Amino acid sequence: MKAIVLAAGLGKRMKSSLPKVVHKILGKPMVNWVISSIFEAGIKTEDITVVTGYRAELVEELLPEGIKNVRQQEQLGTGHATIQAMETINSDDQILVIPGDVPFIEPETLKMLVRESAEGFEAIVLTMKLDNPAEYGRVIEQNGRIRIIEAKDASPEEKEINEVNTGIYIFDSQFLRDALKKLSPNNAQGEYYLTDVVQFAKKAKRVILNDPQESLGINDRVQLSKAQRVAQQRINHKHMLNGVTIIDPENTYIGPDVIIGKDTIIEPMTFIYGNTTVGERCNIGPFTRVFDSTIQNDVTIVRSEIDRAMVHSHCSIGPFSRLRPGAVLLEEVKIGNFVEVKKSTIGKGSKAQHLSYIGDSEVGENVNVGAGTITCNYDGKKKHRTVIGDGAFIGSNTALVAPVNIGKETVIGAGSVITEDVPDYSLGLGRAKQVNKVDRYRKSEKGE
Ligand code: UD1
Ligand code: CA
Repeated sequence: MKAIVLAAGLGKRMKSSLPKVVHKILGKPMVNWVISSIFEAGIKTEDITVVTGYRAELVEELLPEGIKNVRQQEQLGTGHATIQAMETINSDDQILVIPGDVPFIEPETLKMLVRESAEGFEAIVLTMKLDNPAEYGRVIEQNGRIRIIEAKDASPEEKEINEVNTGIYIFDSQFLRDALKKLSPNNAQGEYYLTDVVQFAKKAKRVILNDPQESLGINDRVQLSKAQRVAQQRINHKHMLNGVTIIDPENTYIGPDVIIGKDTIIEPMTFIYGNTTVGERCNIGPFTRVFDSTIQNDVTIVRSEIDRAMVHSHCSIGPFSRLRPGAVLLEEVKIGNFVEVKKSTIGKGSKAQHLSYIGDSEVGENVNVGAGTITCNYDGKKKHRTVIGDGAFIGSNTALVAPVNIGKETVIGAGSVITEDVPDYSLGLGRAKQVNKVDRYRKSEKGE
């Protein structure tokens, strides 16, 4: 089985400068939802072709490695898009065609269509019944032939039909190649409609989808937000039934690929997106965002941002901390308020509790990073590394000017500017000596 994903359209009704399918639902672009479903239905990466067009590069950068891609230079309709895609397919396999704007299509539904296709149909159309069929193509079966009439081309009687086209089909490839040649743009929109090929199939079948929610196309931002609500509920329910406590499911946003262990508690206004894994017995939130990160067991994160970071077990983060890409916290690390960590490893049991920046650094075990400590990693041209040995105690308000090495079990005096390496077991001081000038100042009337 091959698959063609149609994703070249602008999506006029989104009123956006971005292609419709790059708009995200729970942190995941629409086109990636569709591709994930196709994968889960058992179709391999190299058998999928995505048609891009409008601002193609924005869609292409989202595509998983190995997927085929063709560009439709002018968006002349779904039929025209399919013609472009057929240039990448030279086998006789059956072909699943699916729009890029049906993010919630279930893999089970696609599998079911694939099973049907074993019967040797020239065309299988997935349809659904809607109380308000709105702009969807109406589906009619007459004398063994299926016809799809676009809403814009439908007569008032045809508009009454409530069985509509989901835009998802399986075609026999030889049939599709021949039928596409017969398309013409003689219709209300002046487009080559893919829907018009279906009437040419002598052996065709309609499969009616039970739950239309699955294949509601997303055409504007109202539909986008409704779709997000539906997905959010479904995902949150799944986690709750798996043993995760979600205090306020309406205000908790979890992406479809996130894994969460049992007895973890998610507090309100928390967003967990991308390829994130959260372990067991964690407490995440409130007001926290986590992207593409791994959080192990028994971790607490409060009011913080975690982006592409790795947090080992028993760490505590926040409130108001920020882990940026490449931050790695080993076990039992404490990162406190207004602390930013970037591209740095912090060793087991170490603490940076207040107002710090740790960048491009390697911090050993049981290090105490005092309040206000800054690694000065950037000299205006290049980034440099800071290494802090096990058991070091960095006094408050220290500037560590990288590249610099702080030995193990050292003490750095508060307020130091450290530009030279400090050997193991040493005290490093880099600050002006205090001077007291006695009797030089008095605020009271006795003053000069
Ligand atoms: C299409 C169907 C309609 C069906 C509906 C289901 C046609 C003519 N109509 O209408 O019967 O009920 O989907 O959602 O197919 N695209 C391209 N190139 C183009 C035009 C579109 O790649 O030149 C892509 C779009 O990016 C989109 C998909 O095809 O992902 C569907 O296009 P859209 O304009 O949304 O079609 P609908 O009007 O919704
Ligand atoms: Ca659509």
